[in-house]
Formats: sequence, C-alpha cells, structure tokens
Amino acid sequence: MVTIAVTAEHSDEPRVAVSPETVKKLTALGCTVKVQAGAGLRSRFSDAQLAAQGAVIVPTAGEALNGADILLKVRRPDVAEIAQLKPNAIVAAMAEPYGDRAALDALAASKASIFSMELMPRITRAQSMDVLSSQANLAGYKAVVDAAALFEQAMPMMMTAAGTVPAAKVFIMGAGVAGLQAIATARRLGAQVSATDVRPASKEQVASLGAKFVAVEDDEFKQAQTAAGYAKPMSAEYQAKQAELVASHIKIQDIVITTALVPGRPAPRLITRAMVESMKPGAVIVDLAAERGGNCELTKAGELVDHNGVRIVGKLNLAGAIAVNASSLYAKNLYNFLELLFDKKEKVLKVNWDDEVVKGTLLAKDGVIVHSSLVPAKAA
Ligand code: NAI
Repeated sequence: MVTIAVTAEHSDEPRVAVSPETVKKLTALGCTVKVQAGAGLRSRFSDAQLAAQGAVIVPTAGEALNGADILLKVRRPDVAEIAQLKPNAIVAAMAEPYGDRAALDALAASKASIFSMELMPRITRAQSMDVLSSQANLAGYKAVVDAAALFEQAMPMMMTAAGTVPAAKVFIMGAGVAGLQAIATARRLGAQVSATDVRPASKEQVASLGAKFVAVEDDEFKQAQTAAGYAKPMSAEYQAKQAELVASHIKIQDIVITTALVPGRPAPRLITRAMVESMKPGAVIVDLAAERGGNCELTKAGELVDHNGVRIVGKLNLAGAIAVNASSLYAKNLYNFLELLFDKKEKVLKVNWDDEVVKGTLLAKDGVIVHSSLVPAKAA
C-alpha cells in the first residue's frame, strides 16, 4: 500500500496540497493519505472533512512523514522532512527550481525523487497538471478584485439622475494566464480595458476578451514567443520603444495590473518611477511580479507603497489569498500528476521515467539535480 504524507505549510503559506476531493481520489487509487492535523484549516478543509473522504489524520508532521512513500507539499519542503520518508521516496511540490541553489542541492542529496510542479511542460496532455496556470488564473482574478477594493471610484460606467460616473480605465501588462483572467475580471466589473504583451499570440486573445491591444509590433515582437509558449527577454532597443508607448498610455489609467514574467529571470521592468509620477492620485498598480523583483520600479515585495497618492500593491502569493480555490485546484493538479505515476489496475507506483511529463518535471533523483534547465549541457 502506497502511503502519502501531507504536512502543514509554513505560516506564510495558507494553501495545502490535498483537498477532500483529492483525498477521496487518492484513496480510490489505493493510497493511504496521512494528513497532519490542521494542515487544511486555512483552506477551510477541516480534519473532519478530510477524514470523511478517507484521510488518516495524525497529530504531528513526523507521524505523517514517517516511512511515507510520497510527500505532497505546496512549497519546497526542507531536508528534515524528506529525511523521514522512505528511502528514494517521491516528493511533489512547487520546489522553486530557480531559487536558492545550495538548498536545492541539499534536498537532492536526500536521494528522493523530487518533482517540481512549476516545470510542468506546457503541452496539451499536461494542462490538467499545470500548477502555474491554475494559480496564475486565480491570482489574475484576485489582483483586479484587490485593485477595485482600493480604488475609491466605481469600475463600471453608471448613468444616474445626478450625473454619469465614468468607467474605470484598466491596463493589463502581460497577457498570459494571469493577465487574461485579469482582463476578463476587469471587463466583468465593467471597466474599459486595454492590455499589452510581447508575444504576438496574445494579441488575438486580448481582443477576444473585448480589450484593446497596445504593443510595439515590430520584427522582434513577431519572434518573441519561445517554442514552450513563453516570452523571450526583449532587447534594450525594444524595451526603449515599449517604454515610450507605455509612458503615454499609462498616465490616463486608473488601475494597472502587471503580470509580465520571463521564466528563470528577474521580472522585466515596465513601469518607471517617472511613469508612476505621471499617473493620477488615486490610481492603483497591482504588481503580480513582485516576488520576482516587480514590473514596477517602486514595487516593494509584500508591501503597499503610496507614492504621491498612487498605490502600488506588492502583495505576495495572491493565489494564496483565495486559498480555498487555490488549494482545490493545486491539489487536483497534483492528483492528475500522481495518477500518471501509478499503475491504476495493480494500484502500485510504476513510474515511467521516460515519459515527457515525468522527465519535464523531475528536478532531482538518486542524489543529484537532473533537470535539463539546471544541469549544464554536456560538451558534444
Ligand atoms: P508568464 O507567467 O511567464 O508571463 C506572463 C506574461 O508576461 C506572458 O504572456 C509574457 O509573454 C508576458 N511578458 C513577458 N515579458 C514581457 C514584456 N517585456 N512586456 C510585456 N509582457 C511581457 O507566462 P504564462 O502566463 O505562464 O503563460 C504564457 C503562455 O503560455 C500562455 O499565454 C499560453 O499561450 C501558454 N500556456 C500553455 C499551456 C499549455 O499548453 N499547457 C498552459 C499555460 C500557458
């Protein structure tokens, strides 16, 4: 019988790696799911709810981990946790593959097979396991709701007997998963929405959501998407043209949501101090890239900055701020991934190490980091 451990996250992480739904599914797959008491509380999953679906609730993390075959986490676990698992156990988490390398090497040395869910290949078959998408979607929604709550004006146009309230102007920078959800949410609230991106594929997606596309569409723009679907870092020349365009557009905006990222790099700087200073007092910027250095020069990670009346929100882990949904979707992503590692008929673990999804997410195995993006390519 395969035993799965789920322990509580650190105090700054409200999400959890299982939900009542996935406990039920994992149990049906033949697993025993041991959950540390209280681990689901901040996602509003009570011990009783989890137990009702088959979870074994244990009082301490140690009891969940001791001898388990699999550990499921939201954030990167620590070495001490992994050490309590069975030798060569499986760990699946958002392991921050590009963060603190020394700590990552130490984790790898535990000899566990560590899967980093952020590395999920962006292929059709893996969509249901794509944690970046599920969490970015929720973060994009929450960014707009948070901005609307801070903004002291209405979002939709309102025609009243006393006069007309204009629609808020919302500008979304970066129209990937989070940005597209932000556009959709701002549109639902009745705002007048525009958006920018460097990937040409995003142009049609922005238009299909009813927003205006604003971008420098030169030759570099036409080549800005990698085969993996991500943006490339743009040249200094492109960035200068983009800054000029953004500068004239941003000063008339009420709310700006920035989501621009390039994998494995600091966030591109899209809003300068001078641009912030050109905006109206009362305007709100929500910087979803705060964790990676921010798209706005004045963003402070984890803080709310007020610069001449323009509020810049650098709140971290926006998906975690709607933990009920975020945990449910994350847990489902993990379940869909784990299912792939099982022989469902025999109800045993049977990992096909050559599978594209397995290979694509495997960060460390047998004591070393193995992911292609982190291992220097061997000289031919
Ligand atoms: P991301 O989180 O890495 O970046 C967010 C957005 O910022 C991207 O749209 C990117 O083009 C944009 N960006 C980067 N540099 C910029 C700059 N200098 N100025 C303006 N915008 C900039 O990307 P995300 O949201 O994770 O996904 C990007 C795309 O990947 C999606 O739109 C989609 O096409 C594809 N995708 C495919 C999936 C699949 O097939 N399984 C799943 C999810 C996404």
